[in-house]
Amino acid sequence: MSAPNKQYDPKQVSDLSAEAIDAMVSAALAAIESADTLDQWKEVRLEHSGDRSPIALANREIGALPPAAKVEVGKRVGQARGAIKAALDQRELILIEHRDNEVLLAEKVDVTVPVDRSLKGARHPLTTLMERLSDVFVAMGYEIAEGPELELEWANFDALNFPKDHPARMMQDTFFVESPDSGALLRTHTSPIQVRAMLERELPIYVVAPGRVYRTDELDATHTPVFHQIEGLAVDKGLTMADLRGTLNHLAHVMFGQEIDIRWRPSYFPFTEPSAEVDLRCFVCLGDAESDLLDQCRACGGEGWIEWGGCGMVNPRVLVAVGIDPEVYSGFAFGMGIERTLMFRSGVKDMRDMVEGDVRFTRAFGLDS
Ligand code: DAH
Repeated sequence: MSAPNKQYDPKQVSDLSAEAIDAMVSAALAAIESADTLDQWKEVRLEHSGDRSPIALANREIGALPPAAKVEVGKRVGQARGAIKAALDQRELILIEHRDNEVLLAEKVDVTVPVDRSLKGARHPLTTLMERLSDVFVAMGYEIAEGPELELEWANFDALNFPKDHPARMMQDTFFVESPDSGALLRTHTSPIQVRAMLERELPIYVVAPGRVYRTDELDATHTPVFHQIEGLAVDKGLTMADLRGTLNHLAHVMFGQEIDIRWRPSYFPFTEPSAEVDLRCFVCLGDAESDLLDQCRACGGEGWIEWGGCGMVNPRVLVAVGIDPEVYSGFAFGMGIERTLMFRSGVKDMRDMVEGDVRFTRAFGLDS
């Protein structure tokens, strides 16, 4: 005698008639057919062919049948289980194929989609502008000259005919190094490069020198203690003020367009005689006397004009200081502010934007090579 089946639950006893079994198979097949995902399929398998599924329970009851019924019912239930299993297997294959196709689609790599690039920095507009200005002169046959930023007081002032007591030499304007009598300073302008060019080069001389210069100014919208200039120097036989004017007018037209209004004003520099300053029509108020803007214009202080740079015929005393005979040679020179040029060309109103190094400022000029 076998041990009593403790798990036997009389409530689960099913009807083993052909209709009942067919109904189980139809229910299972319908459920299998409607399983759309492998997860649903697993649930359906549990429900219709798992240990507690109707067909499994039916199978378990076969043993309790009288021997004569066992064969027929056993065959019926066996076939039913086979049909359910076959349907499950077939459905599983289909669902696996679906899942694989979906995964392939989801993981498809579109090599044409733009990726997130890390942003490249942009060259500073002052750098590109210095190159652009230099190019205008290189196209006219000038060479690029250089000089040190830590300069001799002699080249920065003495050789350029600044008297010993000239106010520019004072500590309020100039960064001296170590002590005021060390003879060294941070150059206050690019003009000492003129001196070096005349000492080092063969005549005739046609050079431009873009570079960084230093003055003891506080940083504000129109001043910065470190700024940039481009110096120009031509020394040749027979050069006159007309050559200087033609050269700077050409530069202004290339940089700002043919319509730019230029004004020449007599001025004074120790190293040029005669000297002039070149002004450009204010890019903010346009110097329009009719407009209310002019009076309050912060860019030009109500002048209508903004100073671009200084220039003149090289003072014969400077030529003598570097050993050039002023009876045979004459020269012209000029020095323009790069920051001012950038303000004009690009409408930058605050110099601090140029020195703060915020990439959002430089990036706007990023395509300017
Ligand atoms: N060095 C002068 C300055 O910084 C500008 C200048 C004026 C340069 C006249 C020149 C020149 O070459 O001839 O203000």
